[in-house]
Amino acid sequence: MEPMRRILVIGAKGMLGRDLVETLRSSFPKDEITGWDVEEIDIQEERSTVTRIRNLEPGVIVHLAAYTDVDGCELNEKKAFAINAEGMKHVALGAATCGAKVITLSTDYIFDGKKGSPYLEEDPANPLNVYGRSKWKGEQYVKELVKDALIIRTQWLYGKYGKNFVASILRQAREKDVLSVVNDQVGSPTYTLDLSQAIALLIERDARGIFHVANSDSCTWYHYARTILKLSGIEGVKVVPISSKELAYPAVRPAYSVLDTKKLKRETGLALRPWVEALKDYLSSYSERA
Ligand SMILES: NC(=O)c1ccc[n+]([C@@H]2O[C@H](COP(=O)([O-])OP(=O)(O)OC[C@H]3O[C@@H](n4cnc5c(N)ncnc54)[C@H](OP(=O)(O)O)[C@@H]3O)[C@@H](O)[C@H]2O)c1
Repeated sequence: MEPMRRILVIGAKGMLGRDLVETLRSSFPKDEITGWDVEEIDIQEERSTVTRIRNLEPGVIVHLAAYTDVDGCELNEKKAFAINAEGMKHVALGAATCGAKVITLSTDYIFDGKKGSPYLEEDPANPLNVYGRSKWKGEQYVKELVKDALIIRTQWLYGKYGKNFVASILRQAREKDVLSVVNDQVGSPTYTLDLSQAIALLIERDARGIFHVANSDSCTWYHYARTILKLSGIEGVKVVPISSKELAYPAVRPAYSVLDTKKLKRETGLALRPWVEALKDYLSSYSERA
């Protein structure tokens, strides 16, 4: 009989974490899946992070914990690096004490968005904002400290459990007749359930290196917002395209950060469905809470 694996998910109460823990429990019923979040482990603290991981002795760590508020990071650079870069380092050091395999999540925001075509895993990073720089530093730590780590870069996540763009557009549509949405950033909205299934497959295949994982096809936030309203049957709410400059958020975002996911298809046979299909599925399952 296959020996049981012990898989530790750090950041288990986040938007992706909740779906991922459920997916891993159903995909790997014989394995022990442990979910920790900030109550169980504060990854900013090196000593306690290393000790807790060493004591659990997981075979695989899926590290999702992060400071994910992109504008918050811009205003609090110290906290962004303490969690997204140093926190990653502490988890990697913990993994090294027990030889655990490390899988970590990174972001399209490590790219500057100037390429004009989908980003490959080996394209050079040039983050435009603090969040992107802190996640990029985290990637460097994991590459330095862990042999055969797996880095999964993804983008524009939404899911059942988190604050996200879909829920925010539906809430605003109940409150206003006109919504202004940015039309000069292009990406691929990605459903946390689809991403969770891809992560389970990459664990199963013992994948290493860097993989880009996102739903296929792309759009702007404006097009995305219009699609959310259309698929939800909401009429009478006007969506107005605006520029990022008009919105003036603290953090600059890349103009075009679509991820090329051909490597995933080539190496595992998996291609995530088009984002519109995934969105339809999400809206029909969870429209009551959005
Ligand atoms: N969301 C996206 O669109 C997106 C895009 C690309 C990549 N990613 C990456 O995907 C991963 C998961 O994203 P997500 O959207 O699911 O994030 P999320 O919902 O913000 O979840 C992150 C979790 O980490 C926890 N956390 C924060 N600081 C911590 C600390 N010091 N120690 C331990 N836990 C801590 C958070 O707790 P609190 O909520 O209490 O702070 C939260 O439960 C992240 O690594 C993120 O960078 C996300």
